[in-house]
Amino acid sequence: MSQLFTPIRIGRYELPNRLVMAPMTRSRADDDDGVLTDIVATYYSQRAGAGLIISEGVYPTANGKGYVRTPGIETKAQMDAWKQVTDAVHARGGRIFMQIMHCGRISHPSLLPGNAQPVAPSAIKPSGQTWTASGQQEFVTPHELSTTEIAEIVTGYRMSTRRALEAGFDGVELHGASGYLPEQFLASGSNKRDDAYGGSIKKRARFILDVLTAMVEEAGGDRVGIKISPEMNYNDIIDESPQATYWDLVGELNSFNLAYLHVALFGAPIDYHALLRPRFNGAYLMGGGLDQAAAEVALENGKADATVFGSAFLANPDLPVRFATGAPLNAPDRDMFFSAGEKGYIDYPALDVAKRA
Ligand SMILES: Cc1cc2nc3c(=O)[nH]c(=O)nc-3n(C[C@H](O)[C@H](O)[C@H](O)COP(=O)(O)O)c2cc1C
Repeated sequence: MSQLFTPIRIGRYELPNRLVMAPMTRSRADDDDGVLTDIVATYYSQRAGAGLIISEGVYPTANGKGYVRTPGIETKAQMDAWKQVTDAVHARGGRIFMQIMHCGRISHPSLLPGNAQPVAPSAIKPSGQTWTASGQQEFVTPHELSTTEIAEIVTGYRMSTRRALEAGFDGVELHGASGYLPEQFLASGSNKRDDAYGGSIKKRARFILDVLTAMVEEAGGDRVGIKISPEMNYNDIIDESPQATYWDLVGELNSFNLAYLHVALFGAPIDYHALLRPRFNGAYLMGGGLDQAAAEVALENGKADATVFGSAFLANPDLPVRFATGAPLNAPDRDMFFSAGEKGYIDYPALDVAKRA
């Protein structure tokens, strides 16, 4: 029998299946105030058949924004809009965690209040460009955070966790992947600090552990997950000893009794799932380039407890039904991934709609 459709306990929740919708930025919020537009509730509720939905990355504080039209969870208006999303998902029997994403140096002054410098553990400019309201722009040299400012950011994660729960989320995921602020602290190439937050692996991991401590104090470990992406090398992240770094980090995670560890791999030179799954004491979510067959094999072999799908869920609101019935999949329209509006967002047909047409 297919393992994809057997229930699984993830922290506080019993999921009806092992198909998790990956966190995906879709840029459908108002750019000025970070408030979601009305179509977002429809988008997520269409996908409520997932065992668990992980929301797009949401900035905890305005200095964590890194992309145009991305949402926050700081103001009452932002919370109210998210409440519509969680209500709509729950009304269709689903569960949804919010992904909290602070972009750190992967941002641009034009995206930040008062045209502020983006922040980072060290004043090291990432190579590359970012998409702003006026087109592609070079990254800038970020402001190096003081320890007082680090404490303020940790408080931002704490408050955003509290607000996410108030807005009806079932839990929260710390975005520790893809070269954003937590990984900027973790990786030796972007962290040259010589205080309590830099130097040894333990010190570089401290920011992540401080943030998780705050999030777990708010939500309980059984409602907190973390996503990592070892050796994805995205957003100019380089670490001198990634295997040792992630081995140590995941060992440290065990004390939090987290709901899950979510590991997404993209072209890593070794099988980090084989390394890290036995190291972790909770549910293990595997993602990155999976298809149904690969997911079935991973579950069958005990390499994962649940499997995470990104672009397939984006293009197929009823992905679990399609997998269960062997129906063909809609192809994702990449041009519409980060565009505004309904097209390529809430108009992917579900099977029954496609059949009627
Ligand atoms: C449009 C798009 C937006 C994404 N945004 C995020 C994000 O906000 N946070 C995150 O952790 N990953 C993000 N990702 C990565 C996905 O979560 C996932 O790891 C990736 O798509 C690989 O899974 P897949 O091969 O099943 O698509 C995004 C991916 C896509 C396609």
